[in-house]
Amino acid sequence: MNILIIGSGGREHAFGWKIKQSSKVKNLFFAPGNAGTAEIGTNLDAGVSDFQKIKTLVLENEIDLMLVGPEVPLVEGLSDFFAADPELKSVGVVGPKKLGAQLEGSKDFAKEFMVRNSIPTAKYIAVTSENLDEGIAFLKTMTAPYVLKADGLAAGKGVLIIDSLEETENSLKEMLAGQFGEASSKVVIEEFLSGIESSVFVLTDGKGYKILPEAKDYKRIGEGDTGLNTGGMGAISPVPFADAVFMEKVEKRVIQPTISGLQKENIDYKGFVFLGLISVNNDPYVIEYNVRMGDPETEAVMLRIKSDFVDLLEGAAFGTLDEKTIEFDERTAVTVMLVSGGYPEAYEKGKVITGTEKTEGSIIFHAGTKNDGENVVTAGGRVISVSSYGTSIKDALATSYKNAEVIQFDKKNYRKDLGFDL
Ligand code: AMP
Ligand code: GLY
Repeated sequence: MNILIIGSGGREHAFGWKIKQSSKVKNLFFAPGNAGTAEIGTNLDAGVSDFQKIKTLVLENEIDLMLVGPEVPLVEGLSDFFAADPELKSVGVVGPKKLGAQLEGSKDFAKEFMVRNSIPTAKYIAVTSENLDEGIAFLKTMTAPYVLKADGLAAGKGVLIIDSLEETENSLKEMLAGQFGEASSKVVIEEFLSGIESSVFVLTDGKGYKILPEAKDYKRIGEGDTGLNTGGMGAISPVPFADAVFMEKVEKRVIQPTISGLQKENIDYKGFVFLGLISVNNDPYVIEYNVRMGDPETEAVMLRIKSDFVDLLEGAAFGTLDEKTIEFDERTAVTVMLVSGGYPEAYEKGKVITGTEKTEGSIIFHAGTKNDGENVVTAGGRVISVSSYGTSIKDALATSYKNAEVIQFDKKNYRKDLGFDL
């Protein structure tokens, strides 16, 4: 079949790498893709939110299955657009419709869903300018630090964790006044949970589900988990503390009620559910839902799926997931993200990238790269992800770190302490 992957990051390159291993694929396309995806498939010229353009390209290239990488087009209704169009209806789509995508698109929607379905999560209240007093009263019942979350999509920047109550009250007012635009016209105030985080991924056709290998990502720019939040500086799978006992709790307390909740509430959901979890005394709590795979977690997780990934995607898109099986590769997989100097603040683009062909023993996924006609150059904050297998976290990281030195571009930066906390 012909497959289209929507997106342009390391996650999408990693999807493509795994999909290419399937005998079920005829042609592989990306929209818009990057310099790395162009080496394994065909990049099509459409932005992720350009539904009409995507439609034209899907028909032109006889696409059978579309895998949506990022959340934005899902929240905007790309899956609904396909379902409603007679010419696109038969195309399999992996990615939920708008309503299901609200699990990521609105923190308040997600919290209400969790409460209705008895899924463990932090205590909270949703606040707008209408009930600000109630919000402040709730804050006073909490202890520091305080957690404020913009309700809507804020490109990973909408969560503030603040130590002083006074500062929190001011930040709450600033958020409601438009600090994150429309996304923070509603704010979720949450109880702070203390524990270690992990990401668990589930693929569902709305009825059944398959649990993918779990991962831990490293969000902060600085070593020792310090400094600003980024899209993600690296990831590790499996996660040592997510043992069989913990994963059984996750399945019983979080995954099963999530999938049955979607069904009960008539939310047509075909795609990935990404559970951002925090383990508090070995009990899982949901910090957030995402309606897509994680980036850079995917650049480690794809290495750990042994089964035919296209077969699984087909199962999710066409409602036959219960006929499929998923097998894991028992090896450890890690990914190290090479980023542009300055990221996640201002950084320069257009730096020539060399050495990728000289790496040995790693799998290289492009994120923010493009081909300027002559060279592959940097085109984003997160540039290239270096993924490796190993017999242990240390062993896999050693391979990625060796190759991270082989790849060169001006002002390259990466974290050298991944796994320090495990
Ligand atoms: P989110 O965008 O919801 O994933 O939040 C970003 C980060 O903030 C998470 O990865 C956590 O590290 C932290 N965080 C969010 N909510 C909480 C909470 N209730 N308690 C402690 N940390 C949190
Ligand atoms: N790595 C976290 C995310 O994709 O949201």
